[in-house]
Amino acid sequence: MPRVEPTCPQFDYITAKDAYPAMVAGFGSGKTEAAVLRSIMGKLAYPGLNRGFYEPTYDLVRMIAWPRFEEILTRLEIPYKLLKSPLNYISIEGKGNIFFRSMDAPGRIIGYEHADADVDELDTLKDKEAADVWRRILSRNRQKKPDGKPNTIGVTTTPEGFRFVYRTWKESPRPGYRIIQAPTSSNPHLPDGYIDSLRDIYPESLLQAYLEGEFVNLTSGTVYHTFSRELNNTDITEQRGEHLHIGMDFNVQNMSAVIHVIRDGDPVAVGEITGVLDTPAMIELIKDRYAGHKISVYPDASGGSRKTVDASTSDLALLKQAGFAVEVDRSNPSVRDRVTAMCSAFCNAKGERRYRVNVRRCPIYAACLEQQAYDKHGAPDKTQGLDHAPDAGGYFIAKRYPINKPKAGMKRIRGLA
Ligand SMILES: Nc1ncnc2c1ncn2[C@@H]1O[C@H](COP(=O)(O)OP(=O)(O)OP(=O)(O)O)[C@@H](O)[C@H]1O
Ligand SMILES: [Mg+2]
Repeated sequence: MPRVEPTCPQFDYITAKDAYPAMVAGFGSGKTEAAVLRSIMGKLAYPGLNRGFYEPTYDLVRMIAWPRFEEILTRLEIPYKLLKSPLNYISIEGKGNIFFRSMDAPGRIIGYEHADADVDELDTLKDKEAADVWRRILSRNRQKKPDGKPNTIGVTTTPEGFRFVYRTWKESPRPGYRIIQAPTSSNPHLPDGYIDSLRDIYPESLLQAYLEGEFVNLTSGTVYHTFSRELNNTDITEQRGEHLHIGMDFNVQNMSAVIHVIRDGDPVAVGEITGVLDTPAMIELIKDRYAGHKISVYPDASGGSRKTVDASTSDLALLKQAGFAVEVDRSNPSVRDRVTAMCSAFCNAKGERRYRVNVRRCPIYAACLEQQAYDKHGAPDKTQGLDHAPDAGGYFIAKRYPINKPKAGMKRIRGLA
């Protein structure tokens, strides 16, 4: 019989007798692997009953969950059939089904029932959405077990601050709720250099959560806490004709732009334009001040539909008509991803400060970076007017220097045919 060798926290999680065990652990610690193993072992223990398996998005079901199930079922020599969209379940011969659903379509968590379930990355959902999805999964989880044991739901997730998983499993857990926390380093099967590469990518404050698996307040104090007006300062200015990269935020009567150059691959803020009436006025100012430069604009993606001037031409169309290269995706990255990209560019966990700001030339940008705080809902505060310039700079940084979490990879092909 081919063997599966779980790590210690995976073993504790998979064999937990509690109704609602949660493995809360760092990136790459083997959470998804544990979820798949718990699902398959539970399936074999209760042939004839169904299970549910939940990922945050359908893409994750397709690209993460199914390949893992196929690999492990094959390794364990368990015959199965994978029925993809629209059915979305794995049928194990004579042993019932495992239903797959994505949590971003909670309306589709309906019309089936199971005895047990596994939920991957629950805490990456917003607080309210996580609570809603959890209730829906609980209500699917009602098939009666022949041995009279309780229905169970297991959760595997990174800790995302003091949100649903913290409140439910850590702060005041009710009976049956058990938490198993683990650091990334508990998984010996990661490729060499994986943990080190996370230190390049993330600021120190996030690694307590993402490497150690601890709940930490991700939204306390100032938003851009890694920015230092001394340590990130530079006297670099743009050279004649140099390619300029302009992050831009649209606000009627209060548009902002932060002007950058790229030196040795790293971003440098060399100027700012704030408090501008509308997009045409902004275009005029840029053309006037930066004549002779090649200009790329990195705007707020919602400017594709927004019109600060008239109802017929969008802000993005105006920028293109002005002859600027417009670098924008169909939608903005999440605020959290944009802020993380900024914080990491100002200072990563290795103390490297890639993003420099000419503070003398960008006085408002620097002041906003120092002062903008989180509001009581854990979102960057927008009531003090300190959000516009950092948003502008952030659209450029998030587009050109995004956070790309490294793939944990498949080091352990060993044992497979
Ligand atoms: N018990 C194990 N034996 C062998 N390899 C394992 C084991 N557990 C995990 N792995 C391997 O370690 C890597 C990371 O595992 P996994 O993707 O499950 O971690 P994760 O915590 O879900 O990661 P992420 O945070 O990226 O979602 C994968 O390549 C996986 O195949
Ligand atoms: Mg995972």
